Parts: sequence; structure tokens; C-alpha cells
Amino acid sequence: MSENSIKHLAIIMDGNGRWAKERGLSRTKGHEAGAEVIRDITTYCAEHPTIKTATFYAFSTENWKRPKLEVEFLMKLLDRYLQKELETYQSHNIRFQAIGNIEAFSKSLQERIRQTEELTKDNSSLTQILALNYGGRAEITSAVNRLIAEGKRSVTEEEISSALQTPYSDIDLLIRTSGEERISNFLLWQISYSEFYFTPTLWPDFSSEELKEIIENFEQRNRRFGGIK
Ligand code: IPE
Ligand code: IPE
Ligand code: MG
Repeated sequence: MSENSIKHLAIIMDGNGRWAKERGLSRTKGHEAGAEVIRDITTYCAEHPTIKTATFYAFSTENWKRPKLEVEFLMKLLDRYLQKELETYQSHNIRFQAIGNIEAFSKSLQERIRQTEELTKDNSSLTQILALNYGGRAEITSAVNRLIAEGKRSVTEEEISSALQTPYSDIDLLIRTSGEERISNFLLWQISYSEFYFTPTLWPDFSSEELKEIIENFEQRNRRFGGIK
């Protein structure tokens, strides 16, 4: 028996721009290729015996700093992705949920996101969470503000955890592609005891074969949670 079983996987999908640049393509082509990989990884997770949630970082609160055209392209790509993905969600019994402040998006994109959540809400093999206009600090700040609005004058860890947007908050394994070894404001609260795996592979080259190897590596790790094992 392996040491650990993975329930919640989180991925920082990085390196689309560099992948495109290496091929003399525009960055947008890298994002398109990256979107295809999300599908493969999601269906792999849906078929995996223990993974129940897979959270993907798709757009950070800091990504608005990018050129307007790139941001607009990413919004259009997301809309197209969700439209096309509905079939995969339904055929693989996958629930879709968004975290992040989607109110900053166009009305039609917000509608697409809410509709996809609604249409897939009874699916149960996997919950795929896309982090959209997401920042870990923003998520914690909103959670605390929500609790203050409820009249709380002091809060417990459990109350903060349950006021966060991210369901099933603790992350077992966090993977970042592209060789960067940083968190970039992803799930700050939820990674307190996560295992990290950094791979040099650029996101469009990532595959379920590599994921399988990373999970095997994770399963052999000794997670102590501050105790002795
Ligand atoms: C990740 O790839 C996708 C998003 C952040 C939207 P990048 O676009 O960050 O690719 P690099 O890091 O520039 O290669
Ligand atoms: C993190 O990647 C955000 C997403 C993958 C959506 P970035 O490419 O934006 O992160 P930095 O700027 O290199 O830290
Ligand atoms: Mg990047």
C-alpha cells in the first residue's frame, strides 16, 4: 500500500507563452495548446480512483497586468473552452465550479460560467475547479469580510476555512509546470500541508503520463503534518 492517497490536486499551469515562443508562434497559440491539455488532465483525474477535486489556476488577479489583447484572448478562449467542454463534463460525470472574482468578466462570460456550473452540478466523479481572476490573498480577505458582515468580532481557523470559496479546501499535491518555483498568489490558505512538485515541462507539453509519475512520487512521500511517522 502506498503512504498517501490523493484527493485534491492543484495545478499552476505555467509556460504557455514560452512554449509558443520556442516555436516562433504568438503567445495566444500557446494558450490554445494549453487549453487542450486541461481536458486530458481533467479526464485522467475523473478516472483516477481517489482524486475527487482538481483545481487549475487559469487566470490570476495579477494577470490583468498583461497586454489588453492577450487578456481579451484569454477571456474568449475561456468562453470557447467552457462551451466545448460541456460534452466532456457530462460524458465523464464531471462537475465544473469556478473560484475567483468573476464579476470582473463580461456579462456573457459570467453567464457561461454560471450556466456550466448549474448544468454540471449533479455530476460526481470529479469536481474540476477553475481559478478565474483568482488570488489567494483576495480569497482570504473576502472570507474575513464575509465573517465580519455576519457580525463576528473574532474568527477561528475553521470559520475562515468554511468561508473560503474553495470547496474541500486542503490540497494534497500542488504541481507547477514550466520550472518556476513559486506560488504566485495561488491557494495560500489551502497549501499549508501540501506536497509540492515543480516540473520543467511547459504546460502545453504536460501529459497524463507525467501526471501519473508525479502521483507515484507523491504516494511514496512521508507526510508528517508536524507529527512523527
Ligand atoms: C500560463 O502561461 C497561462 C496564464 C498565466 C494565463 P503563461 O502565459 O504565464 O506562460 P509564460 O510563463 O509566459 O511562459
Ligand atoms: C501564475 O502564472 C498564474 C497562472 C498560471 C494563471 P504567471 O505566469 O502569471 O506567474 P508569474 O508572474 O510568473 O509569477
Ligand atoms: Mg507564466
